[in-house]
Amino acid sequence: MALLDVKNLSVQFDTPEGNIHAVNGVSFALEQGETLGIVGESGSGKSQLNFALLGLLARNGRTSGQAIFEGQDLLSMSERDLNRIRANRIAMVFQDPMTSLNPYMRISEQMAEVLMLHKGLSKRAAIAESVDMLDAVKIPDAKNRVRLYPHEFSGGMRQRVMIAMSLLCRPDILIADEPTTALDVTVQAQIMELLAELQREFDMATILITHDLGVVAGFCERAIVMYGGRIMEEAPVDPLFESPSHPYTRGLLDAIPRVDEDQDALRAIPGNPPNMTGLPQGCPFAPRCESVMETCWSTAPELVNFAPDRTRACFRPVEEIVA
Ligand SMILES: Nc1ncnc2c1ncn2[C@@H]1O[C@H](COP(=O)(O)OP(=O)(O)O)[C@@H](O)[C@H]1O
Ligand code: SF4
Ligand SMILES: [Mg+2]
Repeated sequence: MALLDVKNLSVQFDTPEGNIHAVNGVSFALEQGETLGIVGESGSGKSQLNFALLGLLARNGRTSGQAIFEGQDLLSMSERDLNRIRANRIAMVFQDPMTSLNPYMRISEQMAEVLMLHKGLSKRAAIAESVDMLDAVKIPDAKNRVRLYPHEFSGGMRQRVMIAMSLLCRPDILIADEPTTALDVTVQAQIMELLAELQREFDMATILITHDLGVVAGFCERAIVMYGGRIMEEAPVDPLFESPSHPYTRGLLDAIPRVDEDQDALRAIPGNPPNMTGLPQGCPFAPRCESVMETCWSTAPELVNFAPDRTRACFRPVEEIVA
C-alpha cells in the first residue's frame, strides 16, 4: 500500500463570479521515501491540491475525493485528528518562510513549541533538539543563533530555519511548495542541495511543487505535470525529459533555459493559463496547443496508462509528441 493515496481529488472555490475549479479529479500515489515533483505554470492548482491534503484551503474552498494516509482519509478527518498529522507526520515548507514563521517570536521559542506540543519534550530538551536541527540544515553558530528573531536571518538562512522547523518531528512526508522561488539563483541551488541531502538522510517521502521543470530534474524520481487543475502527464523523470508524451510537457521543456542558448532564443509557451471558472468542455490546453485537433475542443482526454509507470491525457498519438 502506498504511503499516501490520493484518489480523484477536486477543489472548488465559491466566488461571486462563479465556481473556480482549481483542482479536477487528481489521483496519484506517493510511496515511502519517494521524491515526487508536481510541476506546472502558476495557477495550475499545485498549491491548492496540497493545501487540500492538510486542510489548509481558504474558507470558500471545498474538496471532494479521498486522500488515504495510513488507512485514514485526510479529507474527511476532524480538525483535531488533522492537527496531529500536520507538522508531525506531514510537514510543509512554503515559498515565503514568513508565512509560517512568527515574526515576534524567537526561533528557539517557535521550534521548541512544535516539539513540546507534538513530542511532549521538556523546554530544555526541545531547545537542544532545535539547535541540533539548525546544525543539520547548516546554520552556522546554531547554538547562539537559535535565540534570534526571523528577521535577523537572510532570506536563504530563513528558508533553512523553516526547513529545520518542518523536519523537527521527523515527518513521513515533506511537502515543499516552491521552496526556492523567492531566493536568488545561487542560494536556490544551495537550498535544493540541502533538501536533497536531508531527504536521503531522513528517508522521507517528498513532494516538490515547482513551476520549474529544471528543478524537478535534479531532485525528483517521478513527476506529475499539471495544467488547468488536471494531470496532463505522469512519468519517472528520465523518460519525461527524454520523451515527453504531452504537448504541454514538451512546451515546459522547451522553456527551460539552457547554457548554450542565447536569451532571445528562449521561448515560453505562448498564451495564458486557462480561466478556471467553470470546466472547459474539451482539453484545457487546447487554446495553446500546437498539436490541437478537432476533437480536443469538444472532449476532454482521459488520463490513460500507455506504458509501465507512464500516464498521459492527450488525443495525439504519443509518437507525434517529439522531445
Ligand atoms: N480562495 C480562493 N478563491 C478563489 N480562487 C482561488 C482561491 N485560492 C486559489 N484560487 C485559484 O485556484 C487556482 C489554482 O491556484 P494554485 O493552486 O495556488 O496555483 P499554483 O499552481 O500556482 O500553486 C488559481 O486559479 C487561483 O486563483
Ligand atoms: S488533447 Fe489535443 S489539445 Fe490537448 S494536449 Fe493533446 S493534442 Fe493538445
Ligand atoms: Mg503555488
